Amino acid sequence: MSRNLQIVLDRRPTTLPIEQDFVEREGEIPEAGPGQVLVRTLIVSIEPAMRGWILDAPNYLPPVPVGSPMRSFGVGEVVTSNLEGFRAGDLVVGFTGWQEWATMNEPEIQRRIDPDLAPISTSLGVLGVTGLTAYVGMIDIGRPGPGSTVLVTSAAGAVGSAAGQLAALRGARVVGLTGSGDKCRQCIEYFGFDAAINYREEDDLAEAIRRECPDGVDVFFDSVGGATFDAALENLNVGARVAICGTISLPPDGKAVGPRIERRILVKRISIQGFLATDHFDRFDQIIAEMSVWLRNRKVRHLEEMAPSLTDAPAALVRLLEGRNMGKSLVRVSDRYQKDLS
Ligand SMILES: NC(=O)c1ccc[n+]([C@@H]2O[C@H](COP(=O)([O-])OP(=O)(O)OC[C@H]3O[C@@H](n4cnc5c(N)ncnc54)[C@H](OP(=O)(O)O)[C@@H]3O)[C@@H](O)[C@H]2O)c1
Repeated sequence: MSRNLQIVLDRRPTTLPIEQDFVEREGEIPEAGPGQVLVRTLIVSIEPAMRGWILDAPNYLPPVPVGSPMRSFGVGEVVTSNLEGFRAGDLVVGFTGWQEWATMNEPEIQRRIDPDLAPISTSLGVLGVTGLTAYVGMIDIGRPGPGSTVLVTSAAGAVGSAAGQLAALRGARVVGLTGSGDKCRQCIEYFGFDAAINYREEDDLAEAIRRECPDGVDVFFDSVGGATFDAALENLNVGARVAICGTISLPPDGKAVGPRIERRILVKRISIQGFLATDHFDRFDQIIAEMSVWLRNRKVRHLEEMAPSLTDAPAALVRLLEGRNMGKSLVRVSDRYQKDLS
């Protein structure tokens, strides 16, 4: 044990982050204080939300301080524990940050995971916040059923692909919007969507949605916002439910403009609800238990891409924000935990 490689926020971007906004730093390996665990980070997660976490703008979490390791979810192995209920060898998911070693208090630990349930990487994806987000947004808010039409944006991505598959499990017809022909094929052939639209190739997105959803849209699961949201809104049926999961297309300064939508919401009696997975952590056990059965039975499938080392994390974030990731974006930090690597 001699060093703690960290990827630190070096400056705040004004628009989208670039790799040069982060620097590598070698710190001391910290010691677990009272009520803390020391964790060796194994895998960290790359999230679209990171774009907002590093801006100095109001958000649901305070901005990552310049000079601090980048905030991120990670899975790690407890090496030392001064926290009741945890012991060396436990695997935990929590806010490890982009660093090889992290100390965590109880509130920073999301949960302990069972490595026999599934590969540990899934605890950051389909059996983690990704799965929880898809479930809350689609099952609880969207409430799809047999005969309903569901439209999902970022459909080939980690959350979108899970959300679409959950809707299909409830008997809905599922249409995805995504950013390339390969991703459209993946939605249909791998994730079992009924149709997919490459939004980059459509001059009139509202018309393209009408083409693929001739009976209108009953549930809209949106991670994009902006012009995509406007195009979908034109196709919503009476009583449609809209789950606002993310707003990745909106400029970080929040200065987007668009049409007034009140009249359409009134006439169509549409419900629109934003939600954050972090408000639903109390349901992790129930939801992940259900998701893991579906994953085991191949009723839900997942894809992930794993960058090979911690120093690749900034590039992986840029790649995701350019829409080049294929599946849940992860970064391997240590291969000390061998079980998953065979
Ligand atoms: N509410 C919550 O609690 C919660 C929790 C987790 C994630 N989320 C949200 O869920 C969404 C998906 O997250 P994820 O982790 O599964 O990521 P992901 O979908 O695997 O990757 C992000 C995808 O967003 C799309 N994208 C990127 N820039 C875009 C732009 N300017 N306009 C339109 N699309 C763009 C790209 O897909 P395409 O090629 O298809 O455009 C990209 O691959 C994000 O909006 C995230 O913020 C919300």
